[in-house]
Amino acid sequence: MDLIAELGRLRLIPVITLHDATHAERLGDTLLTAGLPCAEITLRTPAALDAIRRLRQACPTLRLAAGTVLTGAQADQAMDAGADFVVSPGLNPTTVRHCLQAGIPIIPGINNPSQIELGLELGLSLLKFFPAEPSGGLPMLKALAAVYPVRFMPTGGISADNLGSWLAQPSVVACGGSWLVTPELLTAGDWTEIRRRITAALALCGR
Ligand code: 3PG
Repeated sequence: MDLIAELGRLRLIPVITLHDATHAERLGDTLLTAGLPCAEITLRTPAALDAIRRLRQACPTLRLAAGTVLTGAQADQAMDAGADFVVSPGLNPTTVRHCLQAGIPIIPGINNPSQIELGLELGLSLLKFFPAEPSGGLPMLKALAAVYPVRFMPTGGISADNLGSWLAQPSVVACGGSWLVTPELLTAGDWTEIRRRITAALALCGR
């Protein structure tokens, strides 16, 4: 899979923390029918791997990432459950090397020049800029993009208010954000609001 091309087409990845795997089917259907055929499911709850499994079964065409992947073992588990690629908050060389050797596409997180250089040394060309807003926001991204031949997936502090500015940066392939599908909306079963947020965000992506 050409991850840069794929994410460049999607432009937006909802970062989702699921506490109840039984939400998976309705979630997958909502994402697909709202026009956002992708999800990053964070491995922060006991339900996460089961949710990835259920999403993969119910929605074979959905692009699925496992987020908050901290170890090679977690990456393996996520891929076994049906993820297409994995995302990490930081750049752990051991985890990245494991993924590269296993053929698992990984987007590790960075927020400074040294980490980018480590990513380049490992052969990576797509990195997550995390946490994007607290790490200096757009000025920091522009300064990094001026120096390094890498593309970025900013995540952390991105919302409908600033999505357009982030996506306008040529170095930005896609943005991640949790505001589209929150645990509160899932618990409340407020699919109408989830759909509304997705529709509004897609308009900012020019879709
Ligand atoms: C994550 O959960 O990986 C990111 O922290 C998402 O950041 P956000 O909640 O600011 O969108």
